[in-house]
Order: sequence, then C-alpha cells, then structure tokens
Amino acid sequence: VSIQLDKPAHAVSPTLYGLMTEEINYSYDGGLYAEMVRNRTFQDHGFGGVAHWNIEHMGNAQATMKIDALTGPSEALQHSLLIEIGKADAENPAGVRNEGYWGMPVRPKTTYKGSLYAKTDADLGPLTASLIDDRTGKTLASATVAGLTKSWAKHDFTLTTGGIEPTAQAHLLLTVGHAGKLWIDMVSLFPPTYKNRENGNRPDIMEKMAEMKPKFLRLPGGNYLEGNLIDERFDWKTTIGPEVDRPTHPSPWGYQSSDGMGLLEFLEWTEDLKIDTVLAVYAGYSLRGDHIHPGPQLAPFVDDALDEIEFVTGDASTKWGAVRAKLGHPAPFPVKYIEIGNEDWFDKSGSYEARYQQFYKAIKAKYPTQFQLIATAPLKKFKPDVLDDHYYKRADEFFDDVKHYDTVDRNGPKIFVGEWATREGGPTTNFGAALGDAAWMTGMERNSDLIVMASYAPLFVNVNPGGMQWESNLIGYDAMTSYGAPSFYAQTMFGQYLGTEVPTSTSTGGTSRFFYSVTRDAASGKVFLKLVNASSARQTVDVKLDGAGSVGKTAELVSLVGSNLAETNTLTDPTRILPVKTSEKIAGASFTHTMPGYSIQVLELSTK
Ligand code: AHR
Repeated sequence: VSIQLDKPAHAVSPTLYGLMTEEINYSYDGGLYAEMVRNRTFQDHGFGGVAHWNIEHMGNAQATMKIDALTGPSEALQHSLLIEIGKADAENPAGVRNEGYWGMPVRPKTTYKGSLYAKTDADLGPLTASLIDDRTGKTLASATVAGLTKSWAKHDFTLTTGGIEPTAQAHLLLTVGHAGKLWIDMVSLFPPTYKNRENGNRPDIMEKMAEMKPKFLRLPGGNYLEGNLIDERFDWKTTIGPEVDRPTHPSPWGYQSSDGMGLLEFLEWTEDLKIDTVLAVYAGYSLRGDHIHPGPQLAPFVDDALDEIEFVTGDASTKWGAVRAKLGHPAPFPVKYIEIGNEDWFDKSGSYEARYQQFYKAIKAKYPTQFQLIATAPLKKFKPDVLDDHYYKRADEFFDDVKHYDTVDRNGPKIFVGEWATREGGPTTNFGAALGDAAWMTGMERNSDLIVMASYAPLFVNVNPGGMQWESNLIGYDAMTSYGAPSFYAQTMFGQYLGTEVPTSTSTGGTSRFFYSVTRDAASGKVFLKLVNASSARQTVDVKLDGAGSVGKTAELVSLVGSNLAETNTLTDPTRILPVKTSEKIAGASFTHTMPGYSIQVLELSTK
C-alpha cells in the first residue's frame, strides 16, 4: 500500500458514521427503553387472556381479571384491566402480576420508580406493589399505594431493593386485601436510566452506542416509519406528551408499540449521545402498498411533516417549537438532513417522484437552505439533494462490491447508505459478517466525498425466544445485560479511528480478500490505516508513506481477530471477540506489517 500524504484526494464526510433505528426485534419496548412492565396499557389482548399479566391470589382469596372496554384513564386509553376480587384480606391478598419483557432486571440497592392509574368501586384499602423473585417467591422490594379512589387517578410509588442477588427472574405484583373491583392502566416501573432521564433508556445500551462514536441517528425507521397501513404509520403527534395520552400503535414487526419511545424521547436520545437527528418524515406510502395520491390528498401529510420539522428544529416562538418547550425542552435539536419516506422503490404506483417533489417544494419554501432532503428511491426527472441506498448482503457479495462507489458520477446526488449490513449469523452477526462489514466500510471511507452518511441496520435485538424478527443485528441483549457482535466492534474501530481527509493511495499485489482504507487527521497528522484480511492465511503488507516530514517509529495497533468465520459473541460469552490494542515498532516511512488470517486492524501512525 503506497500512500501520498501531502495530496489528499478529498475530505472525509464529517457525518460519515451514524446509527439507524426503528421498533424491530424489541428495540425499544423490551430493549433500549427502560420500561419494565410489558403490556402496560393492555393493548395486547393475547390469546383469550391479557398478554403478560396473570391473576394472583394468596390462600383462599379469589379474583378474576378481564379487559373493560368501557373505562380508561384518558381519551387515548379508553379501556383498562378490571380485577374483580371476590374474597381477600390482609393475610390473603389478591391481584395481578406482570412478567416483564422476559423477566424484570432487579439489582441490589436500587430504586425503581413506579406508577399506575387506578380506580375502584369500594374502599379496597391500600394497594401493595412488590418485586418478587420468580424462583423463590421472595419479596425483593415492596411499597404501599394508599388513596385509591372511585375515579381515575395516577399513583406513584418507589421500590428499593436491599443487598439482594441481581436477577432478571422477577415479576411485579400488585395486590389488595379487600373484596371489590379494581381497574388499572398505564402501569409503569423504571430502573435508573441513562443520565437519569425520566421515561428514559437503559445505560448499558446507550453506552454501547456512545462507543461507536456515531454522528447522527436516523429515526424513526425503516418500515416502522411507514407502518403496514397508512393508519399504522409513525404518527408523531400521538407519541408526544404524557404517556397516558399516547394511544400506542401496531408496529409492522408484529407487536404493539407502547410509544413510550416517542418523538421527544428519540430526540433526547440524540441529545444524550451529542449527535444530530436525521429526521425521516412519513411520505404517504405504507408497506402493504397503500399510497396517498400526490396533490391535495397528500397536502395534510406535507403539513404534518412541516409541523414535525418545526417541533424538532423551531425555537419556542414557533407554534410547534412552543409545544416542545412546554414539554420541557426549549432548545431546538440539530438537524441537517430530512428523509422523505423509506424505501419508496417498493411503491409500484410510481407516485414517489411526485410525492418527493411535493414535500421538497413545501420544505424548501419554508426553509430554503437549512436542510438537505433525502430521497429514498432514484428519481427520473428531479435531482434530489441526497439518495438513500440500502445494502443487505452476504460477506462475499460485499467483498465483490467494495468498489461500488469508486466510479459513481460525482455530479449526481450525494449518497446516504441509510441501511447496510452483512447478513451472516444471528441473532447477532458473526466474525465472517464483521469481515464483510469492514471491507464495505473501507469502500465507504474511500468514497466519503460522495457518501455523506452511512448507518448499519438493524441496531438491536432482544435475544430471548420470540424477540427477533430480523436475523443479523449489531447489539444483543436480554433484560439484564447486553453485548456487541463482532460487527459492532468493527464499527467501533472504524468510527473511533477516522481522519478528516483521504490521502491518495494505491495498492498492488494483495489477495482478492484484502481490503484497506486510509484517512489522515489534518490537525494532528495522525494517519489511520485500516486493513482487512478476509482470508484464513496471514497477509504481509508493505506500507510506504510519502509526503510526510517524519513518521514516528511506534505505531498503535488495534486488532480484531477471529479464529473462524462462524465465531461470535453471545450473551453468555460476550467478550470472545474484542479489539485488542498493542504498539508496534515500525521502520519509518516504509515498513512491513503482517496481519493474522481473518483479521481487521487499524494502524495509527504518527506523522509530521
Ligand atoms: O432493517 C430492517 C428493514 O429493512 C427496515 O425496516 C427496512 O427499511 C428495510 O427493508
């Protein structure tokens, strides 16, 4: 590999690597969103019962439960769970239990914030809320909620554990000690969250994303933006404000979304990671093929997108900026890119070109220069600012396609690789996939004059049985812990070691399974040489640096090595494949470096 350091070919896009997210694989509910109560609003009726809830009565107490479609705590939640307690006393209470998302994470010396909406038909005395160990029936934490009344009211409680063993084999139990009727809804329990946000996120998963050094979050999808049907789209206005005012909605991935992760929570997630939002707005097409005709029928959807943009980016003097301020966030959020729809190449009606243009004209009329507008399908007559390309491939296909963008016309739209992944291994990918990913990323870095952003998908998976709808994901978890796939570590290496410019370079003589990219940080002179050896044999690399005043004699080396392509990390073996940092003595401007078989490496070189 021969590198000419004083002749940068182009700058590296400052927003190159980011994140893409949607509700899939229990990404939020049962994932990032820290809520512990599953089916908290009883929207999921299950098969003949109430999914994830069970009746519980001690001794000779008696109780039954059913959905009451005639009463609920808000306009959005018009039904609730009715628990009819036939017999109960203080020693023999009755009530319901919630199993959580494949259990509930209960840790020692931890305070959990709970709340519920309730009403009764009689004086039932106080309600007891407890965390119970599934295995022993032992109470791990408990609190009483007094003052239940005959009209709907919200009640808060806290549960604090002592010096217990951590466990996810636990459930929430709600009981009373008197006969009568008890209605409950919007039952919630939160552990401590990342940066102590109310209604916030799991710290372990947030920390993993921070490690990737992302520059943006593309939200809220993906298919999740579109919904299966127009009425099941991500209707952002129904996802803001108090959770009790959110009606929840079906996600296209087969389960009801609590919408606890609403638009403002998405934005707070970007704020916590200090990254930009790439805001995808619903553009009038849903997955089962329905579309809204461009023109007057589409106009309300365009207006809705304009309101959404104002909610996200407007100051408090604007109508929707003021709504956001009232919800506790006066400062606008940083947005440079707005995406019009998702994967509209699936729209066989051919309406996308006109739909894109209608959104484009309206957004540019209000914001002439503020935003770059991303198209999700190629357009015939109109040049979009940016085009979103998606790639889901096998590793071999990525190896063969690494030069994909080398010859793409630079006069066309900029490119957002808004979804990409090597699909090998599951529920999280294996080392073979990491090699495919790393090879593909070398191509994206080399073409980062054209590619302004790129984001892997999907990001998350709950690895419990039934948690996964899409095989091949980056970060896996259960209720208690999370881990990164080898692909996750490949991404952290590419995200953490990225310069500001791409020097000119050439390479000769490598195998067809050898890939590299090089970037240089103009301020520090550091050169980041990324090397991918996707064959099982060792690879010797002769490196020659020209155009530097001097080259330091010690290189920092980060290595991710697999012993075979199927090797991977799992929940029980989360650190099997991890990047390892060492130092390497080098001869100077010309040196030889040897890579192990199946390896991804970054050489950090100091130059002046
Ligand atoms: O990432 C999974 C899905 O793949 C996304 O929802 C969709 O945009 C794509 O087809």
